[in-house]
Amino acid sequence: MFLVRLLVLFILHSCVVGMQPTQISQQASSPPHPTGEQTPFETDNLSFPWSRLRLPRYIIPLHYHILVHPNLTSLHFTGSVTIQIDVQNNTNWVVLHSKGLQISKATILDKNLAHLSDQVLPCLHNPAHEQIGIFSPRVLISGQKYFLYIEFGAELAEGFRGFYKSIYTTSSREIRTLASTHFEPTSARMAFPCFDEPSFKANFSVRIRRSSEYISLSNMPIVKSVEVENGLLEDQYAASVKMSTYLVAFVICDFKSVTASTSSGVQVSIYADPGKWSQTHYALEVAVKMLDFYEEYFNIHYPLPKYDLIAIPDFEMGAMENWGLTTYRESSLLFDPHISSVSDKLWVTMVIGHELAHQWFGNLVTMKWWNDIWLNEGFARYMEYISVEATYPELKVEEYLLHTCFAAVGHDSLNSSRPITSPAENPTHISEMFDTISYDKGACILHMLRHFLSEDVFQSGIVRYLRKYSYQNAHNQDLWDSLANTCSEEDFISGKHCYTREQAHKNSYMLAGEHLDLTAMMNTWTLQKGVPLVIVKRTGPRLMLRQVRFLRTELPSDPLWSTLQQGYLWNIPLTYKTDTSSTIHRHLMTTQSDIIYVGEAVNWVKVNVDMTGYYVVHYEDGGWEEITKLLKENHTALSYKDRTHLIHNAFQLVTAGYLSLNKAFDLIGYLHQETHSAPLLQILGYLKALYHVIEKRSDVDLVQNFRIYILQFFRGVIDRQTWSDEGSVLARRLRSEVLSLACHLDDTSSLDEAHWRFKDWLQSNGSLKLPTDVAQTVYVVGAQDDHGWASLLHMYKTSSSAAQKDKILFALTNSRDTNKLYSLLDLGLEGQVIRPQDLPALIIWVAQNPRGHHIAWNFVKKHWSTLVQKFQLGSSTIRHVLIGTTGQFSYPEEYTEVKMFFESIREYTSQLKSPQLALDNVQKNVRWMQRNLETLKNCLSENRPL
Ligand code: BES
Ligand code: ZN
Repeated sequence: MFLVRLLVLFILHSCVVGMQPTQISQQASSPPHPTGEQTPFETDNLSFPWSRLRLPRYIIPLHYHILVHPNLTSLHFTGSVTIQIDVQNNTNWVVLHSKGLQISKATILDKNLAHLSDQVLPCLHNPAHEQIGIFSPRVLISGQKYFLYIEFGAELAEGFRGFYKSIYTTSSREIRTLASTHFEPTSARMAFPCFDEPSFKANFSVRIRRSSEYISLSNMPIVKSVEVENGLLEDQYAASVKMSTYLVAFVICDFKSVTASTSSGVQVSIYADPGKWSQTHYALEVAVKMLDFYEEYFNIHYPLPKYDLIAIPDFEMGAMENWGLTTYRESSLLFDPHISSVSDKLWVTMVIGHELAHQWFGNLVTMKWWNDIWLNEGFARYMEYISVEATYPELKVEEYLLHTCFAAVGHDSLNSSRPITSPAENPTHISEMFDTISYDKGACILHMLRHFLSEDVFQSGIVRYLRKYSYQNAHNQDLWDSLANTCSEEDFISGKHCYTREQAHKNSYMLAGEHLDLTAMMNTWTLQKGVPLVIVKRTGPRLMLRQVRFLRTELPSDPLWSTLQQGYLWNIPLTYKTDTSSTIHRHLMTTQSDIIYVGEAVNWVKVNVDMTGYYVVHYEDGGWEEITKLLKENHTALSYKDRTHLIHNAFQLVTAGYLSLNKAFDLIGYLHQETHSAPLLQILGYLKALYHVIEKRSDVDLVQNFRIYILQFFRGVIDRQTWSDEGSVLARRLRSEVLSLACHLDDTSSLDEAHWRFKDWLQSNGSLKLPTDVAQTVYVVGAQDDHGWASLLHMYKTSSSAAQKDKILFALTNSRDTNKLYSLLDLGLEGQVIRPQDLPALIIWVAQNPRGHHIAWNFVKKHWSTLVQKFQLGSSTIRHVLIGTTGQFSYPEEYTEVKMFFESIREYTSQLKSPQLALDNVQKNVRWMQRNLETLKNCLSENRPL
């Protein structure tokens, strides 16, 4: 459907003639029908008045009065909307968004609620642009306000967008239905006709009809509930603050909730299906604590009287920040202390922190257009760290920030990357903006800026930004101006505390110790794609610096190299440390090459201290040897973040062809002395990822040698582990990862332990509680025989914990029996036992299994159109599936095969970014093997101490 719609441009059809208006009772908020018999207007001579994707700017919506009535039995909904509009040009047309809605009636009223026409107004559709045009025979006059009244209806949507249905099963095996919304970025138009662009902010007054066994929820609290007819109830909600359409939400369900109040009196409630009520308490504690934190940090009150968080059983994404009614996937909100692991806890905490941050970044201040979605998502991702660090320091969230930046570098060092701010016009392109670049690179450059400007300047700058643009929209420049405290002409004249551009310029100079134009500096990070590589060479007392664009697929010797480098230059706020002082030195690098004086006496230099900067560093001419020596002799001379960063850098440079694999292995040779979990997890993650690629190649000896190498390397760490939930958060995460890898590599003692634990657990019929952090590993081992697999599948069907179900599903996908993998994929497609929302993860997990990776890829190819129909082109889900199923290919033939598939579906995907991203990623693997496979084999067969 969606694909067809994208292709059929400008096929217009009329929607009014012959349709009966649905029966909707009159309320003060909905205008009366015109008196007398209504005759439909003749539409034959009308053609759609607007040819652009974005709506005209001369009709501004001010206030929506929405009435919706979902029928949870027939799965149909009807509704009406009255939109108060402000007309700024004389016109006969109102053009707005609507997608898949049957419009049964449209009228326009003047400010006294008098109808402009006694006829039902013609409504034309332009489905290719998801727009309708309503024709008023009388000209709407510039400067006047009117009411546009529309009645509409549709089926509750299949899938996860618009106004959609979801189901769950009660403990007594009864099936219950609910209806929920997900609008971001462009699906509000599927639930009611609206001006569905982020800068058309308006107030929303919602009314929802329901039968008495359900409750309804929306952004605001209920003002009153009235009975309208035969037991049918109508909940009337308070008018919202001014907000964008994508933040409107409503849910009709039979859930139960827990409630508490913040110190400033906001009512916070967690809603979940009644059988999961006991898993809601942790989220309540987190949400209350964090709301208090954000109000203080931003020094701006959360403006609504309530904040609801609800776990929706069918939910494609992780969560969504609808103002006052945030929606979550169950595993992102519900927490069972007996079952959920420490990683689950961190996840729930971070997701809550993320969606709460959006209540300011995104909801209060919204980007002008989707091209700057990073102003929402980059900030929300970054605030995850700031808020969790402040409210749950024991979770040690800080360490994750490194991984966020590593993920950004991974994406940004492929040629198919894009600038943070990129054009996005149609819904597919807009959806694609929700990627690693907006989220992770966005967060990383904010982190860099915070360190560059100092915590205080950064915080007061963003508070200034939030205050100044409250209930409005902003773009990048507004943020840079707020951070530099630059003022507009009016502000300056009216004596506000702010600076002229020139003065702001000087202030920054003082702050950073460097000459600086914040806008020029930040433009190099937001308007230009890619990540810089700083090449450092020490000659005598000097550090010679060069910056180039860091690319993992192309070598400097490749013919394309110089073209790919052309025109790239960043303003890099460099930091470095040496052995001769404990100070962190700073230098703003704005040119291609530069020189810094460090002195003769220096033994080593570490650039990009604690990775507060978004750039990769290569140490030429013996620089890596110096660092390797330092780590061997005195690794604690560098912080754990520096050590983790060095490991990451070294392996990135191997992929890009700057550093030999031998040298990278030399660098990690010190890890026998490493006790901090972060560098250990980094190296473990790297070796595991490489092993996953190697084990899918047909070289049995290599796989075997690599397996033995990794086990030897981590022997000490493995033997130190207990199978429990004891210890600090970091210790628990390390345990979870190390034991999982040990079992994957067939480490006998770990397998034995997992086996007997699985047996005991099974015998207890699941009543025995496994240590939460190792439960998944125990399930994986248990899933290897038929009985274990079948029992796990049974547990999967009956478990009421989403966290546990995810772990079990992962275990099931680890089976060596390919028939079982096929049957799982079938179950995923069928969508009963395994919910459609879990199909993408299922496919990706099957692809990780060496017996499953071609099965998963073939499945994607075979069911491509079904997948696109379920999850939509351009979605992050489709991107994840493509990268997840191809990401471990490393043969040139596999590259060609993937390329051919994308070419065969080019008709639909030529405008998508993710196929190219997936291809670049495979190419990176192919080249890695071409450059490093021999070295790896030699190292491993010599059994050289790596
Ligand atoms: N605003 C997004 C939800 C979203 C994502 C809407 C993509 C439209 C397209 C929400 O705030 C979000 O970022 N959710 C994340 C989870 C969160 C922990 C980062 C998600 O769903 O992946
Ligand atoms: Zn978000």
